[in-house]
Amino acid sequence: MRVVSGIQPTGKPHLGNYLGAIVNYVKLQDEAQAAGGECFIFLADLHALSQAHDPAELTVNTREMVATLVACGVDPMKTILFNQAQVPAHAELQWLLNGTARMGWLNRMTQWKDKAGKNREGQSIALFTYPVLQAADVLLYQATHVPVGEDQKQHLELARDIAQKFNNDFCPEDAPLFTLPEPYIPPAAARIMSLRDGTVKMSKSDPSEMSRISLTDDADTIMKKIKKAKTDAEPLPSEEKGLEGRAEARNLITIYSALTGKSVADVLGEYGGQGFGGFKPVLGEALVEILRPINARFMELKDDQEALDAILARGAAKAREHGIPTLDAAYKALGLVRG
Ligand code: TYM
Repeated sequence: MRVVSGIQPTGKPHLGNYLGAIVNYVKLQDEAQAAGGECFIFLADLHALSQAHDPAELTVNTREMVATLVACGVDPMKTILFNQAQVPAHAELQWLLNGTARMGWLNRMTQWKDKAGKNREGQSIALFTYPVLQAADVLLYQATHVPVGEDQKQHLELARDIAQKFNNDFCPEDAPLFTLPEPYIPPAAARIMSLRDGTVKMSKSDPSEMSRISLTDDADTIMKKIKKAKTDAEPLPSEEKGLEGRAEARNLITIYSALTGKSVADVLGEYGGQGFGGFKPVLGEALVEILRPINARFMELKDDQEALDAILARGAAKAREHGIPTLDAAYKALGLVRG
């Protein structure tokens, strides 16, 4: 069992990152350990170069992201926790895979289409080839399980296509080089939506702070954001089909269900018929309870630059070692000798 996943250190991690991915980093790190496997979680700082960024901010955000992940329960003793920039094999393998990935495949990526909008010509090449680096990230470690939110599913399918084509084109049939990675997506919290608009996902890049709960928000801020979250005038339905066409109501119920582990049907059984005035404080309290210890641990860790850098250095050393066999084999399969 090889668990591999990454998160971009751009902006503050939010509730969508937590429920969609980080909760499963923590769950799978234990499962991998129990199965005698490995868990690799990295900060995708090379991916962050695909869009305009401030170098000083990237350095600060990278450290803060390590502190947040550890505060959420990613344990550097169980997980190989590192940043891409310290493991050159990611960028190297991306170049080798660039020969296999097709323009047409990348052109179909919805995230490329959304982010580039009408201005494709003005985008960085890194934004376009971003999914090839993501494929290299997981294929380098022969990932079996990739915990992600639903928005990354298409990128993972592309990684599988690249792996399959490389195996077909360059490896003997009975000795494929790359393992085909499986996305591991939480059924309940695959896509947490903005608190201001239930039809767009909660995102670090949304200009409105009110659209998301940051994992480091304090109790007052959380309660305020939930109170102001967009809703409609109807009471909550008693059954799931009553959530149809009510994106904001569905989102708040989904969040509560994911936080408490109760099914949507049970939550609606309990709160159906009530207005948001009654439900929002319950949701806010549940969030405060879950985020309070994370917040406290983050505060303890965030200023210990030395300790955070040491975690990354240790993780990177291990990641470099684990990546070598696959990188060597990829060079060899292509008729090259790695220097
Ligand atoms: P990023 O940094 O945008 O998000 C990190 C993780 O959080 C999940 N996520 C969400 N899940 C549910 N609801 C949401 N609103 C939400 N927003 C974000 C994402 O699906 C992701 O799992 N390209 C990736 C980083 C990456 C990566 C990889 C991931 C680079 N290489 C290799 C997996 C494997 C990204 O930008 O994630």
